[in-house]
Amino acid sequence: MIAKNVDAKAGDRKAVKTPQLLRGFKDILPGEEPYWNAVEDAARNIATSYSFGRLRLPILEQTSLFERSIGKATDVVEKEMYTFVDPSNTRVTLRPEATAGAARAYIEHGMVNKTQPVKMWYFEPMFRHDRPQAGRYRQFYQFGLEAIGSSDPILDAQMILMTHRFFKGLGVEVKFLLNSIGTEESRREYIMELVSYFKQFRKRLSEVDKKRLTKNPLRLLDSKEEGMDELRDGAPQILDWLDEDSKQHFMKVLEYLDEAEVPYELNPYLVRGLDYYTKTVFEVVEITDDAERAQNSLGGGGRYDTLIELLGGREDTPAIGIALGVERVIMAMKNQGVEFSKEREVDVFFCQLGDASRKKGLIVFEEFRKAGVSIAEAFGKGALKGQLEMADKQKAKIALILGQKEVLDGTIIIRDMESGAQEIVNIDKVVAIVKRQLEMMG
Ligand code: HAM
Repeated sequence: MIAKNVDAKAGDRKAVKTPQLLRGFKDILPGEEPYWNAVEDAARNIATSYSFGRLRLPILEQTSLFERSIGKATDVVEKEMYTFVDPSNTRVTLRPEATAGAARAYIEHGMVNKTQPVKMWYFEPMFRHDRPQAGRYRQFYQFGLEAIGSSDPILDAQMILMTHRFFKGLGVEVKFLLNSIGTEESRREYIMELVSYFKQFRKRLSEVDKKRLTKNPLRLLDSKEEGMDELRDGAPQILDWLDEDSKQHFMKVLEYLDEAEVPYELNPYLVRGLDYYTKTVFEVVEITDDAERAQNSLGGGGRYDTLIELLGGREDTPAIGIALGVERVIMAMKNQGVEFSKEREVDVFFCQLGDASRKKGLIVFEEFRKAGVSIAEAFGKGALKGQLEMADKQKAKIALILGQKEVLDGTIIIRDMESGAQEIVNIDKVVAIVKRQLEMMG
């Protein structure tokens, strides 16, 4: 669609093509801010209360980092990465996720010498050239937690518990889907078994699944292609092929979760879409009757015990992490009726009447701001009535009214928004007086 702008000065209507958002990208407008603030505050609070430090990674990394970590035969690397050659002839990629970058940073900054596990969190945009649909964007934010340097199953449980608490705090009901995919060695045998099982039904497989059969057979387990539900029912289950250590590890995780009363379901078909996983894997989904929504994972994660070594770090550096899709978390909050006031709430609202008071108002407003008082204004509005209505909407406790007369007298009116009572005070003392009144109001 071509949007038309009008060149008012020239008076002639000229068709100007307004640049549009890229497909799959999204503007996050100020009206959404209460949700974003709530999610980021909850993320920061939960992460810091469990001693995770903030990690800010670059958006651009060498392409090989993702190819080696996520795996060449995965959807993300095969089809979804924004990759290009930069002016210095390096193949670079807009990060599709942050676990690979976190692992690289851990190695590059010698974090192996710190107290283990090293716990880090992030809240950053990621990029995947995915097929856009509800809850699926080409730029999306993830809140992620990574704990690198410990194999203790209590960490797996703790990460799930943290996520559970995070959602509880936001008022979203979720459950966890859990599985264990064992070690690479134990998986190798299982995959052979799985391939020979699906080979019998080769003719019934879709083209996509035929490709998976040779390239990435585990993904047959979570294939959404038609007819797969039925075939999958008879497939060998990975839990039966786990090595003893992985089995014990998984049992311990479940025990801890039972103890902490975190709701979960075992899902033998959960394999995740990234190659670096070992042992415990999980996803978080909304508890809802809406089948489509229930399918959209709010987040996912698991152990990646061999990734650090694979990228050239110290042998035997086990790790675990999770990432939540922030847009999906916010969608779930809205779906589950979590509401925020659209208006920013303030303590004080400044009302002005006329030019002289607007001029003086600029300075008064700045003094309140410097004193740390939350204050709003509507310099663009004229009538007092409209300004008081705005004060009301923003739940201001006090309104300040500055008219022409007050400017001349060096005074200002303080209005208690609840009782409507007004008093006139010296304008030089207004900040101190209002601060005291707000303290008394509590
Ligand atoms: P992932 O499952 O690829 O895992 O992504 C985690 C979450 O990011 C998803 O559950 C979803 O909520 C969100 N997400 C993914 N793609 C999109 C998209 N196109 N649009 C909107 N949201 C999306 C990872 O990224 C791993 N790095 C998680 C992890 C951390 N594993 C260990 N540590």
